[in-house]
Amino acid sequence: YPPDRIRNFSIIAHIDHGKSTLADRLLETTGVISKTGKNRQVLDKLKVERERGITVKAQSASMFYEHDGQKYLMNLIDTPGHVDFSYEVSRSLAACQGTILLVDAAQGIQAQTVANFFLAFGEGLEVIPILNKVDLPTAEPERAALQIESAFEIPTNNILHISAKTGLGIDMVLPSVIEKIPPPTGSADSPFKALLFDTWYDKYVGVVCLIAVKDGAIKRGDKIVSSYSGTKYEVAEVGIMHPEQKPTTQLQVGQVGYIACNMKTVAEAHVGDTFYKDKHPVEPLPGFEPAKSMVFAGIFPIDAGEFDRLNESIQKLTLNDSSVSVHKETSAALGQGWRLGFLGTLHMDVFRQRLEEEYDANILMTSPTVPYQIKYKDGITKFIRTPSEFPNAIVMQERVESTMEPFVSSTLIFPEQYLGSMLELCSTHRGDIQTHTYLDESRVMLKCKLPMAEIVTDFYDRLKSKSQGFASFDYEEAGYARSDLVKLEVLLNGEPVDALAAVMHKSSIATAGRDIAKRLKDVIRRQLFDISIQTTSNGKVIARETVKQLRKDVTAKCYGGDARRKMKLLDKQKEGKKRMKKIGRVELPQEAFLSVMTKS
Ligand code: GTP
Repeated sequence: YPPDRIRNFSIIAHIDHGKSTLADRLLETTGVISKTGKNRQVLDKLKVERERGITVKAQSASMFYEHDGQKYLMNLIDTPGHVDFSYEVSRSLAACQGTILLVDAAQGIQAQTVANFFLAFGEGLEVIPILNKVDLPTAEPERAALQIESAFEIPTNNILHISAKTGLGIDMVLPSVIEKIPPPTGSADSPFKALLFDTWYDKYVGVVCLIAVKDGAIKRGDKIVSSYSGTKYEVAEVGIMHPEQKPTTQLQVGQVGYIACNMKTVAEAHVGDTFYKDKHPVEPLPGFEPAKSMVFAGIFPIDAGEFDRLNESIQKLTLNDSSVSVHKETSAALGQGWRLGFLGTLHMDVFRQRLEEEYDANILMTSPTVPYQIKYKDGITKFIRTPSEFPNAIVMQERVESTMEPFVSSTLIFPEQYLGSMLELCSTHRGDIQTHTYLDESRVMLKCKLPMAEIVTDFYDRLKSKSQGFASFDYEEAGYARSDLVKLEVLLNGEPVDALAAVMHKSSIATAGRDIAKRLKDVIRRQLFDISIQTTSNGKVIARETVKQLRKDVTAKCYGGDARRKMKLLDKQKEGKKRMKKIGRVELPQEAFLSVMTKS
C-alpha cells in the first residue's frame, strides 16, 4: 500500500455518543470481525472498560477497504472517551491525519466534544463531523448541526447522518474518510523513522509497541534504536492490529502497526519516542510530555501480611499502565503502603476496582489529594503528594514563602435553565467564571477556572445531580497559582491519625473541620469505650465529637437460644470487619478514610 492508499484516522466523541459502536460497525463492514453481534465493542478490551462502558486504553485496528475500484488500508486509532484521559487522546491523534468528530444527534455538543475538537484542531488534523443516533425519536440533527457550526466554525452542509446502532448511513463513513482525510506524508526512500505512540504487555510476545511509520520501512530482524534512551533493539516481530496482533512481513511508510523487540518492561517503551535504524540516525519527532499525575492516594493492605502479594499485584497492573506513578509510603497509622499517582479520579477508581476484582486485593485507600507546591524562602520549590509532607506550623512561619495549588480551565455545557445552579456550583467550589456563551438559543457554554482540588472530590457528581444529568464537563490543566493552604488534622482519642489528615484552602477549614468530625462520628462503630474525635488546624481545635461506648453485647438479643442465628450474626459482624483497620484501639472502616474528601 503506497501512502496515498492509506488513511490513518480516529473517532473522537463525548462519552456515550457511540464511538465504540461505530468502530464495531466499521470493523464489521470491512470483515475484520463477524456480524454475529457477539463482537460488541471489540476495541474496549479490558473487563472494567466493558463494565463501565468507557474506553480507558486506546486500541487500534487496521481494515482493508475497496473504494472506486481502488484498495485502501484504513487504520482506525481508537481514543479514550473520558476527561481523565485527554492525555491519551492527544497522543493517539499524533498518529493520525484526520478524525471523525461523532456527535449524538439527540444530545448535541457536550463538553468533551469541545475539548476533543480543540485537541484535534491543535494537531492540525482534518475533522469530519458526523451526527450519530439519528434513529432516536428525540434526535434533532439540524439543531446539533447548528451547534457544530457555531462552536467550531466548520460548515455542516453534507454532514453525514448515521445510526451506528441500526447501521443507517454506515456505508458512507469510510468513503468520506478517504475523500476528506489526507493520506500520510513521508518517503519510502528516506531512512526509517517511526513514532511510538502506545505500548502494552502481551503474555506471548512481551512488550508491544504501537508505531506510526513516518519514513522508510521496518521488518523482522532489523536493528533499531530508541532516540530517547539510545538503546538498540532487534525487531522480533512486526504486524498490524486486525483486530488482534497479526504478523506481517514489514511495515511501510504511512502504516500504523506494532513491533515487538524484546523490551523487558513497558517502562522501557517511552511513548512519544522516535525509533530509527541502527547507524541511520534521524531528527527525532517532537515527543510528548510524560503523563502527569494529578491525583494522589495512598493504598495500604488491610492485613500487613499481604504486603508482598499486593506489591506484586500493583506491579502487574502498572505494567500496562505507565501513567500510574508508584512510590512506597509509610504511614504511622496504616503501616507500609504506596502512594499512587493517577491522571484523574476515574483513572483512580478503575485502578482500584481492577486491583480488587482481578487481583482479589483487600485494601484501604486514603482520600485523594492533588500535588501542592511549597515555595521556600531560600528559593526552593517542593511538591507535596501527601498531607504528611505538609510543613508544620513553625516551618510554615519561618521558612515558607508561599503555598501554591494547581488549577484547571474547565468547560461546562448545559441547558440554560440550569445556569443559576451551575454558577452556584462553581462559586461554592472556589471557581472563577470567565465567560458564558450560548451555543444555540437554549444551550449555554460556561468557562470557569477551578482549583484542581475542588474537582477531584465530588464536583462531577454534584454537577450531574444539580443538572439532572444534563450538564457535561471537561477540563485541562491551567498551571499553579498562589493559594492559602492549611493542614487539617484528625485526632482519635487524642492521637493524630496521619492517614486522615488533609490539606485544603484556608477558607474551607472551619466547615470541613466540623463536617469531617460529624461524618467520622457516623461511620465509626461504637466500641467498648468512648472514642473522642477532634479536628484541629495549627494546634487549634475546630470541632469535637464523641462516639459513645457500646453497652449491649450484639448477641444479647438472641438469648443464647437460636445458635444458628447467633452464628449468622457473628459472621455478619466478621464480614463487616473485613475492611476495618485498627488504629491504636480504634477500628476504622474504609468510609472513614474517604469521609475526608466529600463536601456537605
Ligand atoms: P465511550 O467508549 O465510553 O467513550 O462511549 P462510546 O462513545 O464508545 O459509546 P458506545 O459506543 O459505548 O455507545 C453508548 C450507548 O449508545 C450504547 O448503549 C450504544 O448501544 C448506544 N448507541 C450507539 N450508537 C447508537 C445509535 O446510533 N443509536 C442508538 N439509538 N443508540 C446508539
